[in-house]
Amino acid sequence: MDTDAIYEQYLKAGLKLDLTRGKPCPEQLALSEAMDQTIAGNFFAEDGTDTRNYGGILGIDEARKLGARLLDVDAQNVLAGGNSSLTLMYQFLLWRRQIWRQQDPNTRPKFLCVVPGYDRHFTICEHLDIDMVTVGFNDQGPDMDRIEALLDADPALRGIWCVPKHSNPTGHTYSNETVQRLAELPNRCQQEFVVMWDNAYAVHDLVAQTQPLANLLKSAVQAGTAHSMALFASTSKITFSGAGLAFCGLSQTQLKAFEAFLAPQMIGFDKVNQLRHARFLKDAETLAKHMMAHQAILAPKFARVHEKLQPLAEAGLATFSQPVGGYFVSLDLTRASAKSVVALANAVGVTLTPAGATFPYGNDPDDKNIRIAPSFPDMMALDQALDVLVCCIFKASEQPKPS
Ligand SMILES: Cc1ncc(COP(=O)(O)O)c(C=O)c1O
Repeated sequence: MDTDAIYEQYLKAGLKLDLTRGKPCPEQLALSEAMDQTIAGNFFAEDGTDTRNYGGILGIDEARKLGARLLDVDAQNVLAGGNSSLTLMYQFLLWRRQIWRQQDPNTRPKFLCVVPGYDRHFTICEHLDIDMVTVGFNDQGPDMDRIEALLDADPALRGIWCVPKHSNPTGHTYSNETVQRLAELPNRCQQEFVVMWDNAYAVHDLVAQTQPLANLLKSAVQAGTAHSMALFASTSKITFSGAGLAFCGLSQTQLKAFEAFLAPQMIGFDKVNQLRHARFLKDAETLAKHMMAHQAILAPKFARVHEKLQPLAEAGLATFSQPVGGYFVSLDLTRASAKSVVALANAVGVTLTPAGATFPYGNDPDDKNIRIAPSFPDMMALDQALDVLVCCIFKASEQPKPS
């Protein structure tokens, strides 16, 4: 059967499949069900804090220690917050944005965005009136030569978004040299320049061993730039994505100042959730074991994506990332056709992340990148959705699909 005939069959099949957001599947959520029993009537933290009551914006000690393990910093540098690291990133940039506006009311700040990247970072910038400048990757991570050149030329640049381990969506882990150069960036400019270090996939490996990530804050302390580093992580893809625990890591001076910024907005985050997380993920060994259980569920799904996309590579129609961690596969079409592929898939009931979503302003200048999120569907649904995607790419290319 030719590609058009297969596509016609999909049109009639009434499919309803979704490859959009990187959500844990129900089996992954079930891995953390026992967290519910960790409170069992004992709401008191190790230092005697009654977690049911008000107070403590920085969070309870044992939760800060958990954050310290994810962020690879000291617990005294960590704020344990609510259920979303994205909220903390937004709050952090809202705070810095206000300060930049006071310091320099006439300049619209700009941010460097490594592309393809995470759409919600870009949304935060748009929402806070921060203009975005794109920079590409090389195999070490972000293109540091270009970043340094841009920074030297433009004093409106105020920061950079980084997803340093198993980057969303490309899967990059930044090399040691890249981390070092990022830590030194603020020394190149007069204005404040923030490195937004979103380590959302710090422990989310798909294979037994992955390249370790160098410690940004340590390098920054040596470079004298620690006050410009803002680290984030959460348990959204460790425990419950809607009811996890988020962390922010800052120099101690910045942490105090950020706490003061948050104080008019709240009396404290949900400390009961902090306590149950700290008890459930009580040490490094428990966390590692828990992540291996995630790996066992996710790795076969990523292997299936690889297998299903292979005919595209063989036909010269696309290249794709083969991540060793994280939640995404980044697919680059050879021809500028991502928008039409996504539209073709949507028309038969397979929802894909909108073409362009991995670029600021939704604008992929080459119209070639599609982000695939294989975690949520079960294997059968994933198979079907990938078959449809491959068929749509062949259809858009007007090449017959090999049977
Ligand atoms: C890079 C990155 N950062 C942050 C998030 C969301 O984090 P949270 O659930 O902690 O707000 C995601 C979710 O997909 C992500 O990919």
